[in-house]
Amino acid sequence: MAQAVLLEMRGISKTFPGVRALDGVSLEVRAGEVHALVGENGAGKSTLMKILAGAQPADSGEILVDGAAVKIGGPRDAERCGIAMIYQEFNVVPALDVTANVVLGREPAAFAGWLDAGAARAAARSTLEQLGIDLPLGALVGRLAVAQQQMVEIAKALLRKARVLVMDEPTAALTDREIDRLFETIKTLRARGVGIVYISHRLEELPRIADRITVLRDGRVVGGGTLAELPQHAMIRLMVGREIDQYYPPLPTLDAHAPVVLSVRDLRSGSAVRGLSFEARAGEILGMAGLVGAGRTETVRAVAAADIPSGGEIFVEGKRLRARGPHDAIAAGIAFVTEDRKGQGLVLGMSVRENVTLPHLELFRRALGFVDRAREKTVTLDLVAELRIRTPSVEQRARNLSGGTQQKVVLAKWLTRRARLFLFDEPTRGIDVGAKAEIYELMVELAKQGAAVVMVSSELPEVLGMSHRVLVVRDGTIAGVLTREEATRERVMALATAARGAA
Ligand SMILES: Nc1ncnc2c1ncn2[C@@H]1O[C@H](COP(=O)(O)OP(=O)(O)OP(=O)(O)O)[C@@H](O)[C@H]1O
Ligand SMILES: [Mg+2]
Repeated sequence: MAQAVLLEMRGISKTFPGVRALDGVSLEVRAGEVHALVGENGAGKSTLMKILAGAQPADSGEILVDGAAVKIGGPRDAERCGIAMIYQEFNVVPALDVTANVVLGREPAAFAGWLDAGAARAAARSTLEQLGIDLPLGALVGRLAVAQQQMVEIAKALLRKARVLVMDEPTAALTDREIDRLFETIKTLRARGVGIVYISHRLEELPRIADRITVLRDGRVVGGGTLAELPQHAMIRLMVGREIDQYYPPLPTLDAHAPVVLSVRDLRSGSAVRGLSFEARAGEILGMAGLVGAGRTETVRAVAAADIPSGGEIFVEGKRLRARGPHDAIAAGIAFVTEDRKGQGLVLGMSVRENVTLPHLELFRRALGFVDRAREKTVTLDLVAELRIRTPSVEQRARNLSGGTQQKVVLAKWLTRRARLFLFDEPTRGIDVGAKAEIYELMVELAKQGAAVVMVSSELPEVLGMSHRVLVVRDGTIAGVLTREEATRERVMALATAARGAA
């Protein structure tokens, strides 16, 4: 079925200081298709879409809508051309309700009397209905779950009659059920003739949702086609330029008598952690599975003293930990790699080198308190190579790195330190396939060196592929512990949801 070409980008190039982000990229989006845009971290996906949305100017190239050249000099131009973009950090206004957010920014002339609350509500309601979305119109958007905020963004785009909708990693922070919901909504939009550009690192979800695919590498298009023409292994080879056959490395055998590194007894924290006990041994990788909201992040935050527990006991190598803050936990040998790269994870205004080494300056301090710059640089360069961190130099500001590359810097920051216990919260979110494999290798390496690794992950294949044991958390308690042999998708899900009998 040949659909009309809605949008064409031709020969788009863009250079940042020291980085050729895009080099003559062309992309075509048809009406009623979901067009996946994939590539390694830093390949240029977000930059290409920011140019389309008028958030950044291209150095050269042209954009055509319905076959006619258009000039996109800013977000207003993009909106006029029917282009809407949903960034990973949404543009919703948390302090306004759903209605206000959906109708927000409509020109008064185009949306007569939007100050009329009744009309605004009617417009918001009908838009949400067309999408089959049920949201409380009067609820403050800041109080909604991530998935609901995303729905508000989609409704906004629809009300603006968007013909091309760009979604940058829309499923990264969603639960399985929310992803199903999102895919339904995307299919509704597709049936209405909207062209969708879909950026994702979760390659396994693409066959469910995408019609065609374009692969970027180093700012160039290296291939593409229909999903049938490009199976996953071929896609990966195009993306990273090599085969990745062994995705999950073999785990080292776990010594059942290895010393216990972490022991948690009846841990309580906030309202999310309600009496949780578990242990992790030296050399063990312990996966923590559960639904979003089950209390996994809160558990590792409490162990790392990012939140102060309200009850229970934590022992690190047999010593009771009474941390009053993250510093005490760090001193006790705990490394906490957070999922939140913008908050605690990184200082965006600092360089890669500063971010990697700053928390550990004592490691680089020489006699009389001088900092060993040369050694800092060597250590950072090694990590940059190991994690394939794409940056023109170690002095680049973190702000200028691509989303997934920032996540890698957060990892690097903790790997410079010899910790006894590593807590990873969603370590591979937003990270490309090639680097994922590297991160798994690193985890195995840490375990081999005798550290205990606790990994919270919402990607079940990752938990199953990488854990000696799987701890399933539900409602702030342990719903069950499965050995590597026992852990299957079905059993984990049965424990994670309320269906106890099925487990
Ligand atoms: N404002 C900027 N200043 C300097 N360099 C930048 C800027 N924005 C992006 N870059 C660089 O351009 C390249 C492409 O980045 P982009 O964000 O488009 O990658 P991406 O494909 O979206 O990656 P990811 O999958 O990690 O999100 C990267 O090398 C990035 O560091
Ligand atoms: Mg990006």
